[in-house]
Amino acid sequence: MPETNQNKAVKFFFILAFLTATTVSLPSSPDRFLRSASKYLRSPDEPQKYEEIRRPLPSDQLKPSCSHVLLRHSFANTINGPPFTTPYTPPSGCTSPPWCYVVLYLRAASSGDQYDRISGLWLGGVELLRTSTAEPNPSGIFWNVRKDVTRYSSLFMKSDLNITMMLENIVNEVYTGIYHINVTLIFYEFNPIASNLKINSRLGFMESQKRDQTPADMVIPLCDGGKRGFWFMIENPAETYSKRIQIPSNTRQIVLELYISFHGDDEFWYSNPPNSYIKTNNLATGRGNGAYREVFVKIDGRYVGSEVPFPVIFTGGINPLFWEPIVAIGAFNLPSYDMDLTPFLGLLLDGKSHEFVLGVNDGISYWLVDANLHLWLDHESSNVEAGSRLYDSPSRHMVRQEEFEQLDGSFRVEAEVHSEYDGWVKSSRANLTTMVKSMFKVDSLVRFEKNGTYKKVEQRVKTKRIIEVASESGKLVNRVVQQRTYPLTVITSTLRGLTNDKDMYLLVTNVSHAFNERHSAGEALTQISNRQDSEGWMEVEDHNVLAGEASTRQSLSYIDEASCYSRSIVAANGEIVEDSSTDSCTSSSSS
Ligand SMILES: *[C@@H]1O[C@H](CO)[C@@H](O)[C@H](O)[C@H]1NC(C)=O
Ligand SMILES: *[C@@H]1O[C@H](CO)[C@@H](O)[C@H](O)[C@H]1NC(C)=O
Ligand SMILES: *[C@@H]1O[C@H](CO)[C@@H](O)[C@H](O)[C@H]1NC(C)=O
Ligand SMILES: *[C@@H]1O[C@H](CO)[C@@H](O)[C@H](O)[C@H]1NC(C)=O
Ligand SMILES: *[C@@H]1O[C@H](CO)[C@@H](O)[C@H](O)[C@H]1NC(C)=O
Repeated sequence: MPETNQNKAVKFFFILAFLTATTVSLPSSPDRFLRSASKYLRSPDEPQKYEEIRRPLPSDQLKPSCSHVLLRHSFANTINGPPFTTPYTPPSGCTSPPWCYVVLYLRAASSGDQYDRISGLWLGGVELLRTSTAEPNPSGIFWNVRKDVTRYSSLFMKSDLNITMMLENIVNEVYTGIYHINVTLIFYEFNPIASNLKINSRLGFMESQKRDQTPADMVIPLCDGGKRGFWFMIENPAETYSKRIQIPSNTRQIVLELYISFHGDDEFWYSNPPNSYIKTNNLATGRGNGAYREVFVKIDGRYVGSEVPFPVIFTGGINPLFWEPIVAIGAFNLPSYDMDLTPFLGLLLDGKSHEFVLGVNDGISYWLVDANLHLWLDHESSNVEAGSRLYDSPSRHMVRQEEFEQLDGSFRVEAEVHSEYDGWVKSSRANLTTMVKSMFKVDSLVRFEKNGTYKKVEQRVKTKRIIEVASESGKLVNRVVQQRTYPLTVITSTLRGLTNDKDMYLLVTNVSHAFNERHSAGEALTQISNRQDSEGWMEVEDHNVLAGEASTRQSLSYIDEASCYSRSIVAANGEIVEDSSTDSCTSSSSS
C-alpha cells in the first residue's frame, strides 16, 4: 500500500510520543484485542475477503456430484444461550456412499465491531469442525473454510441426527458484529474413469493404505450433553470429564480424535508465568500456572495418551493487525489430533461400557475439549478377539526452572513424555498386532526484561508417533510415522504513552510460528511446512487497537507422492502485497 502523508505523520507522532515516554509493566501480555474503527486504521470501502492459507484439497480437481445445505444461521447476541440446532436430513437423491470425498464448506460474513469468537460444529454430537471467526470492520468482511470430512462418511446417511453449531457472540451498542454462517456438504462420487493422473495415483494410494485412509464404519462422540455445545469446558487441572461408552464387540481398529481449543486465562497458555511470579509481584492477572499444558485421555483410570496442542492464535490475539486479511495458522480450521487406541481393544471388547476421560494437565479457565471415536468393524464376525500386552504408565521427564527478581526473570519448562503400547486383534481376516509408540518433547522459555515490559516467549514442541502393524508371524504389514514440530516465538514490548492514562499504551510485537509435519505410511511420504512471521506495533487503549502498522509473511509448502504445492504471501497493513503459488514439484515459487 502506498503510504499516505497522513499515515506517515500519524506513525511519526506515535513513535515519537511513545519512545520518549516512561514504561509501564503489563506482564500479562500477550492479550486479546479488538480492532477499533479508528480512522488511523485502514478500512476498505468494500467487504474484504479473509483467508487462512492452506493447500488446495485434492477434491478441488474433481467435479462435485452434489451439495447439501446443512445450516444457514446468523449468530447475533447468542451469549448464554443454547447452540443453534436443526435436524439433519441425509442427501437424498444425491449420490450414495461410498464417496470419494466429502467436503464441508463454511461461508461466513460479518460487519461492524466484534471480537473473535470460537465455534464448534457437530453432527449427532460428533465434532466436524472447530473454527474461530475473524474480527470484522464496518465495511464488512467474509471468508470461507473448506475441510475434508470424508472420514465422517458413516454419519452422512443417518437420518436421526441433529446438526448443531455453537458460536457464543455478544451484540450490544459496543459490539455490533453479527456472524452470518452458511454450511454445506459437498459430495464427490467415486469416478472409476478419472482421467487425471494425480487422482488415479491418489486413489491408488488410498487402496494401498486402506488401514489409514478408509473412513471408519462408525463414529461415536465422547462429548457433553449439548445444552451449551457438545464440548466439555475445563477450568482447572482437577476438572476432568468422562463418558461411559460401549465399544461394539466386532471392532478391529479404534482411533480417538481430539478437538481442542483454549481461551480466557489460557488463551496464551504458552506465555503464562508461574503463579509465584504473579503473587510476588502482586499482579492482577489470572494468566498464570506456568507455560506447560497437556490434554490427556484416560480409559478406566489409566492414561492412554496425551497431546500438547498446536498454539493457534485467534484473530484478536497478540496484535489483531497481524491477522488481516491472512489469519493465523489453524484459526479457521483448528487441527484435531488422532490417537490410535487399537492396542487397548483387549480391554474394551468385553461387552461392557468403559469410562473415557478427558482432562488438561495444568489447565486453567478455560479449555473446550471433546473427542470422536472412529471405529472400524469386522463385517464377517460379530466377535473379535483381542489382547493387550502389559504396559507401564508413560515415562515422563520434566524440569521447571524459575528465576526472577521483581518483574524481571526467566521461566523454563522442559518436558519429555514417552509411551508405548501394543496389543493384538484377531478378526476374521487376520491376527494383527498393533504397536503404538509416542513421544513428545517440549522446551519452553518465558523471559521478562526491562522491568517486565519486554517479554519473550520461545516454545519448541516436537512430537513423534509410530504405528506398526505386524502379522502373527511377525511380518510388518504397515508402518505409519507422524512427526510434527511447532516452533513459536512471541516478543512483546510495552511502552506507555505521553499522557498518564494508564490504559493507553504502545505494543511492539513480533510473532513467528510454524506447523511442520512429516507423515509416512509405508512408502508414501507427505510433508507440510507452514510458517508465519509477523511484526508490527499498535497503540492500544484498554483492549481497543487505535492505530498501528503490521505485516505478516507466510510460506506454505506441501509435498506428497503425487503432488506438490507451495505458496508464499505477504500481507501489510490489511492488504495482500505479495502472493505467489505453484503446484510444480521441480521449481520453487518465484514472485
Ligand atoms: C448464505 O446463503 C444465502 C442464501 O443462498 C445467501 O443469501 C447468503 O448471502 C449466504 N451467506 C453467506 C455468509 O455466504
Ligand atoms: C434434536 O434437537 C431437538 C431440539 O433441540 C431435540 O428435541 C431432539 O431430541 C434432538 N434429536 C436428537 C436425535 O438428538
Ligand atoms: C518497575 O515497575 C514497578 C511496577 O510498575 C514500579 O513500581 C517500579 O518503580 C519500576 N521500577 C523501575 C526501576 O522502573
Ligand atoms: C494373536 O497373536 C498374538 C501375538 O502374535 C498371540 O499372542 C495371540 O495369542 C494370538 N491370538 C489368537 C487368538 O490366536
Ligand atoms: C522483530 O522482527 C524484525 C524482523 O524480523 C526484526 O528486525 C526485529 O529485530 C525483531 N524485534 C525483536 C524485538 O526481536
